[in-house]
Amino acid sequence: MAKRTCDVVVIGGGPGGYVCSIRLGQLKQKVICVEKEEVGGVCLNWGCVPSKALISASHTYEKVKDHGAGMGVFAEGLRVDSDKMQDWKNGIVKKLTTGVRGLFRGNGVELVMGNARVTGPRTVEVTTKDGTETIEVTKAIVVATGSSTIEIPSFKFDGKQIIGAKEAVSLRQVPKRLLIIGGGVIGLELGCVYQKFGAELTVVEATPGLLPGVDPECTAVVEKRLVKKGAKIIKSAMAKGYEKNADGSLGVKLDLGDGKEDTVATDMVLVAVGMRPNGAGVGLEEIGVKVERGFVPADHFGRTNVDGIYAIGDVTGQPMLAHKASKEGEVVAEIIAGHKAAKDWVSIPAAIFTDPEIAVAGLTEAQAKDKGIDVRVGKFPFSALGRAMAVNETEGFFKVVADKKTNELLGVHIVGPEASDLISEGALALEMHAFLEDVGMTIHPHPTLGEGMMEACMNGLGHAIHILNR
Ligand code: NAI
Repeated sequence: MAKRTCDVVVIGGGPGGYVCSIRLGQLKQKVICVEKEEVGGVCLNWGCVPSKALISASHTYEKVKDHGAGMGVFAEGLRVDSDKMQDWKNGIVKKLTTGVRGLFRGNGVELVMGNARVTGPRTVEVTTKDGTETIEVTKAIVVATGSSTIEIPSFKFDGKQIIGAKEAVSLRQVPKRLLIIGGGVIGLELGCVYQKFGAELTVVEATPGLLPGVDPECTAVVEKRLVKKGAKIIKSAMAKGYEKNADGSLGVKLDLGDGKEDTVATDMVLVAVGMRPNGAGVGLEEIGVKVERGFVPADHFGRTNVDGIYAIGDVTGQPMLAHKASKEGEVVAEIIAGHKAAKDWVSIPAAIFTDPEIAVAGLTEAQAKDKGIDVRVGKFPFSALGRAMAVNETEGFFKVVADKKTNELLGVHIVGPEASDLISEGALALEMHAFLEDVGMTIHPHPTLGEGMMEACMNGLGHAIHILNR
């Protein structure tokens, strides 16, 4: 068996692992990144990026179809070519993954396509199509193995009518009826896409609300729009199983609680009930690394309980977000290279690309109250912004949560157009422990959507200009 040595082996080439590898390369460490499927991980290949491409295509389609006329823009012969759309989306993915490979080369990172297994605190065994080799590390092993789609036993994926998110971003035909199990992030993002392309949508959610954990006022805006466009949202319900009908359609059986049941007919089922961490099966437990239900616990410095073994990203636990994984990758790279760093951010913002988008940073009003904080809330609707009217998207609002005593910002919640981009100002404000006055007194260019953030803070102080302050 071939043997060689490097400073660091990073297992997994997703947003955690590839960023960590690049930073290690920049810091002149000899690093090998091992990836078993495709560099870029779920996010670049089958998750965040492909879904956002489809979301933007569906948005463009709907905008022209349903909103163009109101703006005086008419289109004839509007149609969706799913093959062309898939090719375009695949082109974006290819560009990004090729870009990562280029960054690896430019920063001296070696990419090994294969399956890695930790065989000791300083050794990794890698199986490639050409054989197996042992790599000895002088400094560290970084576990960045991510997470995988959870499958419900009674809804085994068949790749055709019972699918997961990976297949859902690769459909070349829009189903007439689509039933989604799980009203979480993936379910609602992809539900919005296929609803816009004409699918009759049903969402089955186990809990009493969609997007558990998100400010319910924000969720209500998205739910209202889904329902207005014909979606059926069934909450507090569990999908138990299905039967195949003679015409090829599926009858999905639901447990509605209190002994009540129902059957919903559909043509396709998308299962989106969460992701499970990929901490098992990498050899970690065998060498004494703590693995709890697939998660690999890591401290503020990314260290596991075994010296020299670090873990970053989804495999370390919630929130399972690409940008969190990437930042953890940077922190761990700095530490391994001997620099001072720690995961000491105030908030991890999250963006949900529904229609309209939801983006959050920091505490919700309820979370702040649960902590015993007396809060001050400021709100501002998109409908009062000239720019929102000009882009013809006026639903939604900005909501800021601050400490009533000090006016320090504690949370920012946005539902509306471009919320995903607008939240970065909120995240920065939280990182800098800004006060309502800091954001409210910052001059925001006019006419922009971002003015809503300034006005929401001013509303919290009781004197937003473009609404009545109640
Ligand atoms: P999720 O945890 O967001 O939502 C799963 C939903 O399924 C929950 O609402 C849960 O109550 C429900 N559920 C669970 N079992 C069920 C059952 N048997 N019947 C009906 N409902 C059931 O998980 P999701 O949407 O699969 O996303 C996975 C991960 O990916 C999340 O951690 C999310 O943070 C991440 N992600 C983030 C995105 C973003 O930031 N824009 C985009 C896509 C995914």
